[in-house]
Amino acid sequence: MALERVDKILASCTLYSRKEIKKQIQKGAVLADGSVVLSPEQKYDPLDTVFVVDGAKVQYQKQVYLMLNKPRGYVSATEDRREKTVLELVPPELRARNLFPAGRLDKDTTGFILLTDDGIFAHEILSPKHHVTKTYHLTAARTISPAEWQQMEQGMSIDGTLLLPASLSLLDETMHAYEIRICEGKYHQIKRMFSAFGNRVLTLRRVAIGGVPLDETLAEGQWRHLTAEELLKIKESE
Ligand code: URA
Repeated sequence: MALERVDKILASCTLYSRKEIKKQIQKGAVLADGSVVLSPEQKYDPLDTVFVVDGAKVQYQKQVYLMLNKPRGYVSATEDRREKTVLELVPPELRARNLFPAGRLDKDTTGFILLTDDGIFAHEILSPKHHVTKTYHLTAARTISPAEWQQMEQGMSIDGTLLLPASLSLLDETMHAYEIRICEGKYHQIKRMFSAFGNRVLTLRRVAIGGVPLDETLAEGQWRHLTAEELLKIKESE
């Protein structure tokens, strides 16, 4: 791989910003193949160098997979002329790797959104053929009737399109709160499923993808890299 500046490499694969990496370099706390890095301008091959930052070994990832806790008010796009995008929530070093959201959440939906630069992986988790389950918590305007529940779990139609079976659990009866698990992502799918029964989704939050739960220590707007185990779990859930 082409040589790149060390501050750029490390900011793209750790939680440190470029500024913080520069500070670590000033402290002498960044090593490349065992030698102290003296300047943020020093260049290395990211795939062929072992880095240590402040005592912790850094694994450079050829591709990036981020878990973001999406707040309301952001659109799941890489660019938008009018709206704030989820990409604005990650630092420029990461955005420069051409990340995009693997799957859309509506502007008013919160929770787990996966940002990546791996197009094949994104396709696989989105394709209904691969059956990667997406789990949501929602509150509805009213209770789901037993007949509606059954239809959703059998595979209902919306606007002439037959959906794959969903699975539901009750979370809180008085709040009309439910968990719903679906393995496809049609446009406004859950809201349309509820509105097909004259019901309405009031709040919607994605809490897991492929069995990997949203890290609840991430405040809204915060992100972190997926761990290798999480990535594997999502891939293997297909
Ligand atoms: N279904 C919806 O209706 N909206 C979302 O944001 C996600 C799933």
